Amino acid sequence: MQLIGDPTGKSVLDVACGEGFYSRMLKQCGATSVTGVDLSVGMIELAIQQEEINQQGIQFLVADAREYNPSEKYDLVIAAYLLNYAHNQQELQEMCDGIARCLNPGGRFITVNCSPFLHFPTAPSYRKYGFETILTAPWGEGTPITWRFHLSDGVFELENYHLNQAMHEEAFHRAGFKKTAWHKPQLSPDGLKLQGHSFWSDFFEHSPVAFIECTK
Ligand SMILES: C[S@@+](CC[C@H](N)C(=O)[O-])C[C@H]1O[C@@H](n2cnc3c(N)ncnc32)[C@H](O)[C@@H]1O
Repeated sequence: MQLIGDPTGKSVLDVACGEGFYSRMLKQCGATSVTGVDLSVGMIELAIQQEEINQQGIQFLVADAREYNPSEKYDLVIAAYLLNYAHNQQELQEMCDGIARCLNPGGRFITVNCSPFLHFPTAPSYRKYGFETILTAPWGEGTPITWRFHLSDGVFELENYHLNQAMHEEAFHRAGFKKTAWHKPQLSPDGLKLQGHSFWSDFFEHSPVAFIECTK
């Protein structure tokens, strides 16, 4: 939310919105309009169910980030954990082209993903934070990274793919973004209060996630 700033008065597109967590947050923070799109029919059904229970006027649609091309463009596009689903440079390019196409000139794209900077084979264990990262193939372009989350009601896994920083920069540039800035995660006041600084040191010194801000 610090990177996004005040969304008041802005039209927002949440790409890969999942069940709509960030879409709802942006609407509650004052965005004029919010649209959430996701490839998964099941995720959009969950998002619509929540919208029906607590109506905020958010539109949820099944769409592929690579193909979505609305006639009305947006002031802000967000995508939490989308780009790390690109298996290769071409797929990353198609996602970035699709996102740039949805933005008004001067609009911003804010995204958080599996970090392209981290050398996952030598990363510490993140088990104490409730998850692990697992590699089953040699490290390189497109290496799958399995994220295993330990929740109170069980374990689930998802798979991301490693593409380095240069590949991301190239994709943003080719998509027409004029400026790109990378940002590290920051410890929230709640996280600091609850567990203290040293608990979080592995996470922040070897951060498995990275934020990116692109301006069209
Ligand atoms: C880890 S979830 C994140 C969901 C949500 N952004 C959040 O943080 O709560 C990743 C989502 O990306 C969606 N996704 C993957 N590839 C996509 C694509 N090409 N277009 C749209 N959504 C996609 C998946 O269906 C999934 O819901």
